[in-house]
Amino acid sequence: MTDSTIAIIGGTGLTSLNGLEITRREVMHTPYGEPSGPITHGVLAGREVMFLARHGYGHTIPPHRINYRANLWALKNAGISRVVAVAAVGGITPEMYPPRIVFPDQIIDYTWSRGHTLFEEDLSHVTHVDFTEPYCAELRQCLLAGAQSIGLDAHDGGTYAATQGPRLETRAEVDRLERDGCDLVGMTGMPEAGLARELGLGYATCAVVANWAAGRGEGVGEISMEDVEKNVSEGMVNVRRLLEVVIPT
Ligand code: HPA
Repeated sequence: MTDSTIAIIGGTGLTSLNGLEITRREVMHTPYGEPSGPITHGVLAGREVMFLARHGYGHTIPPHRINYRANLWALKNAGISRVVAVAAVGGITPEMYPPRIVFPDQIIDYTWSRGHTLFEEDLSHVTHVDFTEPYCAELRQCLLAGAQSIGLDAHDGGTYAATQGPRLETRAEVDRLERDGCDLVGMTGMPEAGLARELGLGYATCAVVANWAAGRGEGVGEISMEDVEKNVSEGMVNVRRLLEVVIPT
């Protein structure tokens, strides 16, 4: 393991990484409880990486019940310094069409009642971390360059709205998110990004647009779960290709 070992946190549609030669699985217990599952250690494209399925390996943990603190704490203590977070999202603004890949550069947190900080018990002093730029510029640049090198249709930048879930949003909620300046909506971006910052980890999100958010796109009807699945599978094929070129850097 090097001091810049990367962890991939896989979301919906990415509970495993084919191409990853698994070397071992590590069960971690943390002061915050149990992570979503054991950490998978392996080699991807010749480089050591760790993988964790955010919703559990059987995809059974809904976004608001994920133990984000345990997940991030476990990865940090297993020795990583950077995280590529893969996540399915809904597209709000015109450039965020399915199944595009997007590397957001800002985030707004609309979640509540999630364990969202490591700085609340046994403190010798109150700690505030800077979060002006929530994503790691260097890691975002690696993702972008990797996407360009393999000719992926990827978009650089955008504001991610982190909503509580597990239900999808109403049309009016999405209108509000757009008025707030959001381009994408997902349910797992926070507190994950904030906790990564508290732990001093470089963190970037590779979002796959799974659907037009409520009231967006052409249909303007209900969101079809069939379409979501189809876009997620298509998008994740590209994410896997991307990770294979990005991980060695
Ligand atoms: N809203 C919130 N989260 C999502 C969506 C959405 O439309 N699609 C995929 N994850």
